[in-house]
Amino acid sequence: MSVSVDPTSVKPSGTEPTDALRPHAEDAFAFELAALAAQDDRPRPARWKMSPWAVATYLLGGVLPDGTVISPKYVGPRRIVEVAVTTLATDRALLLLGVPGTAKTWVSEHLAAAVSGDSTLLVQGTAGTPEEAIRYGWNYAQLLAHGPSRDALVPSPVMRAMAEGATVRVEELTRIPADVQDTLITVLSEKTLPIPELGQEVQAVRGFNLIATANDRDRGVNELSSALRRRFNTVVLPLPESVEAEVDIVARRVDQIGRSLDLPAAPDGFEEIRRVVTVFRELRDGVTADGRTKVKSPSGTLSTAEAISVVTSGLALAAHFGDGVLRPADVAAGILGAVVRDPAADRVVWQEYLEAVVRERAGWTDFYRACREVSA
Ligand SMILES: Nc1ncnc2c1ncn2[C@@H]1O[C@H](COP(=O)(O)OP(=O)(O)OP(=O)(O)O)[C@@H](O)[C@H]1O
Ligand SMILES: [Mg+2]
Repeated sequence: MSVSVDPTSVKPSGTEPTDALRPHAEDAFAFELAALAAQDDRPRPARWKMSPWAVATYLLGGVLPDGTVISPKYVGPRRIVEVAVTTLATDRALLLLGVPGTAKTWVSEHLAAAVSGDSTLLVQGTAGTPEEAIRYGWNYAQLLAHGPSRDALVPSPVMRAMAEGATVRVEELTRIPADVQDTLITVLSEKTLPIPELGQEVQAVRGFNLIATANDRDRGVNELSSALRRRFNTVVLPLPESVEAEVDIVARRVDQIGRSLDLPAAPDGFEEIRRVVTVFRELRDGVTADGRTKVKSPSGTLSTAEAISVVTSGLALAAHFGDGVLRPADVAAGILGAVVRDPAADRVVWQEYLEAVVRERAGWTDFYRACREVSA
């Protein structure tokens, strides 16, 4: 059977085989989402797939009345998630703000998946994002052949979300040039998108909302205009508050990623994960965990996301070239790569940290040696 694909449809179907390298949240967690929707008897805002309470449970994890276990997606203060979800049920848009690697993108994808069952309505913000990406464009063949009409119009993800009453995501809002950002003001305050060429407009229907992410650290970003900022409720995602919480996040994500890459689970990897996290936190904070020794911070961000990728590469090394057990040598090269971004200044910072802190630490001799070896 031949299937004609409408280029403007959200996606051909939600039931494709999930051989995707990275399935969308609504596909990867379809089972949990279905169980939550089925057992949720609380009131749902218009066009929401589940109640705000169920969305928060989907993000934070929990056990349903029938025993279904919902895995935690976000590890962090419950209140943050509650405020984020509640915002989406109001007429204000949600801005997730934070330093790199604090799960802004991750949380926004899961929120969209839980609220609207679709996380794919997405505008990726870059310095080159044009207005069409937020408003609409034209199919030029159609436009020349038949003149301007609704058929020739190519809706943006924002326009589609407005028409369908769904959640749209705007990634890296502050990378978008200021004049293009301001296109969102009418959308967010008037809830309408005029199409002057046709003398028409698309009015947002109930259920529409927008989640933007922005990070407050990267250079080369455009300020958010205060007019636009007022249309958002801002939720700041913090760095994990303790070593334990961060180790938990890293271990959980590494396990998920490892499974999708068919890597064997590392039986004793916990010790190395803890070391990677400890090193990253100490360098980030500029002081050792016991608060006794001051250390210099390197130029990189050393985020949780980077710790996850260091451990994942380490696991791959251990699986393909080692005995499958994660060892110091498997993570040392990754740590060096994450810490030393600026070859001159960061290398000095790293050497100092290695000699002053790692060398002296009880039980870290093998780790110290592995780091020395790759740093030489
Ligand atoms: N508190 C947390 N709970 C669960 N996962 C987390 C947490 N912090 C970070 N992560 C993990 O870190 C990874 C990176 O997160 P993400 O890409 O969403 O970061 P980000 O804040 O969007 O960063 P950037 O500013 O670079 O875009 C994700 O895989 C996510 O699972
Ligand atoms: Mg992001």
